[in-house]
Amino acid sequence: MSRHGAVALRVEAHAKVNLSLRILGLRPDGYHQLESLMVPVSLADSVEMKLDPESDGLRLRCPGCEQLERPDNLAQRAAELFRSTIRPWSGALEVTIRKRIPVASGLAGGTADAAAVLRGLCHLVDVDPRSEDVRSLCRSLGSDLVFCFEGCAAWVRGRGEHVVPISHLPGLDLCLVCPDLEVSTGWAYGQCVAPSLDWEQVAELERRPLPEVGSDVEAVGSVVCNDLWAVVSNRHAFLEKLGLELIRLGCVAWGMSGSGPALFGLFRSAGPAAAAAASFRRLGYRACVSRSPAGPGGEPAERGGAAC
Ligand code: C5P
Repeated sequence: MSRHGAVALRVEAHAKVNLSLRILGLRPDGYHQLESLMVPVSLADSVEMKLDPESDGLRLRCPGCEQLERPDNLAQRAAELFRSTIRPWSGALEVTIRKRIPVASGLAGGTADAAAVLRGLCHLVDVDPRSEDVRSLCRSLGSDLVFCFEGCAAWVRGRGEHVVPISHLPGLDLCLVCPDLEVSTGWAYGQCVAPSLDWEQVAELERRPLPEVGSDVEAVGSVVCNDLWAVVSNRHAFLEKLGLELIRLGCVAWGMSGSGPALFGLFRSAGPAAAAAASFRRLGYRACVSRSPAGPGGEPAERGGAAC
């Protein structure tokens, strides 16, 4: 990389899985108050960024997914807001996103791409990624962005912006199954019946201790839940069958990530998780094996891995 010619870098944008997702109520700002155990997984998009000082502008490319090359793409909005509110770059920025994470699947692919762009920009123009300006930009862009930017296993509260990293989770072997349908996150939350909260109740919920979770796969499996499941499975009844198939294939627990439709099965080791993914692929589903890193200071997320 040279600071005089074009500068290029590549950032992995890891998908996330909500192992648990509890909806505690509806806040005065219209968002739902959450308590969610979230982990980054090895499934990742690749985000390449090239800064050419000889030109100017911002260009987003998504080879094979050209429908995502739109001004309202979260990664593009993140770059524009970074330029206008944190630090402008000089030259032309070209962002190329190679998608492996299924779009609108509950795995936060678009949010992960935006977080990767912000991390890349911090590196390219020497901004401290831990600065309050960057954090507040993350908070303003989307509920999962702070988590994706942090990139480690965490309890997540608030509307998603309060991230409490945890380091004792075991490495997890997951089989991800992504049925070919898109679920709108706004629709799923909108269908949920949740008690209305005032800000004082929200503050009280944020003060209460977080649930304990043990450090083996069975203990992690025992916290798997998703309060959006009833709404989503009510509309897409076949999802239940995929869950039962994950049980038949030997998972410790299965659940839905975010507003779905991606399902995950938690397995005791990589072999059975890979066999389960292969079995779903034979049935015509997008499926892959994915690993969750052990947490900060633990093993790094594998690079990219198979597409889902
Ligand atoms: O923040 P994000 O754009 O990911 O959220 C999409 C939609 O999901 C929001 O517009 C809102 O309708 C709903 N949502 C919610 N409560 C949350 C997160 C999202 O109601 N905590």
